[in-house]
Amino acid sequence: MISTLLGGLSADEFLRDYWQRKPLLVRGALPGFSGVFSKTQLLDLATRDDVESRRVWNADGEWQLERGPFANRTWRQKGPWTVLVSGTNLISDDADALLRQFDFIPQARLDDLMVSFATDGGGVGPHFDNYDVFLIQGIGQRRWSIGAQRDLTVIEGAPLRLLKDFRPSREWIVEPGDLLYLPPQYAHDGVAIGECMTYSVGFRTATNQELAEAFLGYLQESVSLNGRYADPGLKRPKNSAEISSEMIEQVAATLSRISWNKQTVANFLGTYLSEPKPHVFFDPPESPMSERKFASAVARRGFRLDIKTQLLFRGNRFFLNGESFDAPLEQRAALKLLAHDRHLAANAVNPTLLCAFYDWYCSGFGAPA
Ligand code: SIN
Ligand code: CO
Repeated sequence: MISTLLGGLSADEFLRDYWQRKPLLVRGALPGFSGVFSKTQLLDLATRDDVESRRVWNADGEWQLERGPFANRTWRQKGPWTVLVSGTNLISDDADALLRQFDFIPQARLDDLMVSFATDGGGVGPHFDNYDVFLIQGIGQRRWSIGAQRDLTVIEGAPLRLLKDFRPSREWIVEPGDLLYLPPQYAHDGVAIGECMTYSVGFRTATNQELAEAFLGYLQESVSLNGRYADPGLKRPKNSAEISSEMIEQVAATLSRISWNKQTVANFLGTYLSEPKPHVFFDPPESPMSERKFASAVARRGFRLDIKTQLLFRGNRFFLNGESFDAPLEQRAALKLLAHDRHLAANAVNPTLLCAFYDWYCSGFGAPA
């Protein structure tokens, strides 16, 4: 983390006083920052079908939303507009590097880097997000208005979640390299002054309902109960259409054998959080180099994870793009380093790791650095 990022606060101080609690504006958080993408590069991304993009504008007081990919990057549009591109960290090393400046937050909480381009007066309207966000100004200026309002009623029927009654209490004009941190559900509205680009480092969390549904899905795959329903000594029912108490009791006893503990939850979280998003696909090499050639490339340059790979761990269990495995003792330290740094120096790659990395390479999960 660069020292200016949090305006003189240490990561610990930021986490204690601001994270999930209150906004923070940092002037010159990234000195000299002019963005990762040019306007043209960003609008080009919005034409790609492997990238999630949206365009937002306001026509005569009505908000409009169109989802990409867009056929081309020019619009004959009267009035201001914004194009937003999500998940740019999955396709650009520089975008990924910007996201990783926020390494003082666990990777399990990190979501993506969204980038927007707006023409003069453009914005997505007053709204709130359900996640923590660091809004970093790229080129141009933006006027941010924010408010700690409790009333988060949204305009019904609008294509975007917009606040019915936005009451800002603070306002700033941000310049390139400035950063605004907002906790979840903090009302805000950013309006471009001239052409501007904004980089949003977002930390979306799952709702409890999403977590519960995903956990039940996970349990379904891992549950294993022996035996079968049986009823020797069955009594003749009064009414054969009625489900008996004996049946209910026996099934309840069977279901109570489904159990889980913190280890189950850890394994669930690891696979769930490292699972690639639905539109993420890996590109295995078309004609992979031989294992020998791979070994000599890694011996020269080390190994790096693909930009889309998620490698998390808990204790000795590792989670790689939705799959889990227990690492033998001699691999653990190196794998933990790789999970953090995303690359591993040649001298840290032992022969058993080399073998695993070759498989990863053939799946497109990593490559010689
Ligand atoms: C934007 O970049 O235009 C919008 C970001 C936000 O308000 O969350
Ligand atoms: Co927002």
